[in-house]
Amino acid sequence: MCGIFGIVTSNEQPLGNILLDASRRLAYRGYDSIGCATIDKEGQIDLRKDVGKIDEVNKRLRFDTMKGQRGIVQLRWATFGSPSQVNAQPHLDSKASLVGAHNGNIVNNVSLREEFIAEGMIVRGTNDGESCVHAVERYINQGHTMIEAIRKAARDLEGDYAFVIALRNEQNASGDCPLYAIKNGSGLVVGIADQATCVSSDLPSILPVTDRILRLQDGEMVALWPDRVEIRLVSTGELVHRTPERFTKGMEVAQKGGYVHFMEKEIHEQPYTVAELTHWLAASPHVDPFVKALSDAQHLYFVGCGTSYHACVVGAAYFNQLATIPAIAVLAPQFTETLVHTLKPTDAVVFVSQSGETKDVLNAVNATRLAGAQILGILNVLGSTLMHASNHYLPLACGYEISVPATKTFLNEAILFLYLADKLRRHGSRIDWGTVPDLIAETLTATDSAARHTANLLNPHDEMYYLGYGVTLGIAMEGALKLKEITYAHCEGMLSSEFKHGPLSAVHGDYPVLFVAAPQDAAMMVNHINEVACRGGRSIVIAAPSKLLRDNADEYLPLPDTRQELIALLAVLPLQLISYYMSTSRGINPDFPRNLSKTITVD
Ligand code: AGP
Repeated sequence: MCGIFGIVTSNEQPLGNILLDASRRLAYRGYDSIGCATIDKEGQIDLRKDVGKIDEVNKRLRFDTMKGQRGIVQLRWATFGSPSQVNAQPHLDSKASLVGAHNGNIVNNVSLREEFIAEGMIVRGTNDGESCVHAVERYINQGHTMIEAIRKAARDLEGDYAFVIALRNEQNASGDCPLYAIKNGSGLVVGIADQATCVSSDLPSILPVTDRILRLQDGEMVALWPDRVEIRLVSTGELVHRTPERFTKGMEVAQKGGYVHFMEKEIHEQPYTVAELTHWLAASPHVDPFVKALSDAQHLYFVGCGTSYHACVVGAAYFNQLATIPAIAVLAPQFTETLVHTLKPTDAVVFVSQSGETKDVLNAVNATRLAGAQILGILNVLGSTLMHASNHYLPLACGYEISVPATKTFLNEAILFLYLADKLRRHGSRIDWGTVPDLIAETLTATDSAARHTANLLNPHDEMYYLGYGVTLGIAMEGALKLKEITYAHCEGMLSSEFKHGPLSAVHGDYPVLFVAAPQDAAMMVNHINEVACRGGRSIVIAAPSKLLRDNADEYLPLPDTRQELIALLAVLPLQLISYYMSTSRGINPDFPRNLSKTITVD
């Protein structure tokens, strides 16, 4: 996900290394291109940008030599428009008077670009950050001040975003020049130093400059001068008075966004990352060719490892149930050993991998290529080997996931499968995707204390089962993997109706068995719950409100009541929280569990 940083100083000075340092601190968010712009005393804009990693692009473009009174750096993670030099940010307006960069999504980007072109503006790329700049240009051309032009532009821009912008020849009587920023759904923090102010997508890039900060709220804009900042409401233009705070907790706390661990931060980022993904999918031209390849396939396989495999299990259930398209989920090494020998060029294989570098997955990709079948990639890391090997790919739009246990990438993998199945559905109404991020936020809040309670119940045990049925099977398997990975307890995730065929013998006094139930499976699961209960086991049920389930369970963790396809996905949120709370109460650092690494590049 993109990151922006801007700085204003009283004197012209070398800004390149400050911008580079800020970009390195924003890099954890994920990016595919970098750009810097500086504006000198005479109002000359120096803009350098390209696709690639920070240090590699700096070697070519020498950001470190850039000077000026105002500077902007942006790391871009492609959503609207391919990763390319022209789409890299910052962007200029038609006459190279304005320079600006954004973070977030402008969902009406396509129609805005058409309007700008019709109005005679020079639109160079297809990136939505450029639309932010032209939206301001439109009102500057009508004679408005920068503050008025930005306020009016905000009415034209739809989506969640933040942007930073400067007009090259704007100067007050003391020779100071301002930078402006606006926040509408994406993060933005202001820093106030001696003779300089700055603004950034997040705190870590501000702290090397100053620990005096102001947090902007949605619907606010800020004018940054070297010696002061002026915050205004975008709606009325009214000035907002806010006292700066001192951030004294250090860089590590800042990088974790106030959370104790990256896992906790990444769990709580999910409403935002789901919004990023669904906005991207709604506007992307990459979705239709991917969907066509899926529907043209004679045989369809979903392949991955670990958490990504569990998303495949969930995805196959959605495809079978909603789209009535047979899809088979297979672990990557097993696929390479067995099904790959049956592949035909008319078949398609969807490979799912957060990293896009998992060796077991890449082995299966290579075997699929030799068989001539379609390779479809779902991945988080742009530029990964899987991305390059794919005939078509879709990104997960999660930004970097630092914690070893995958959380936000699992949810987006499962959401992506549900989105595709929803597009291909043969019955029932389509999902209103705009409501889903709020549902995720609501679930995290509503289940937090019950998840703590459940973690306390499970903590004395070192073995247990998580059972699912139908679409919740993959969710139960994922919850169990999360628990194993970061608590070192043994937890097996399996189909609830299989439990009686052997594992039931493990149940004795107080043995915990957790059930994840979707509404359509409640009647069936009540049998499975009672098979455990009557043998003295302790049944814990995660489900949407259901009297039937509540009456039969020892413990009940209710989910918000919503469409049944979504309820299964919501269940993974308390499962993530249960693992996190149990891990920390065992004194384990969930971000770096023993023996594991984030990306497994060996056989
Ligand atoms: C998930 O919590 C694990 N870290 C692990 O199972 C992971 O999902 C697996 O190694 C696959 O990784 P990938 O998605 O990068 O291919």
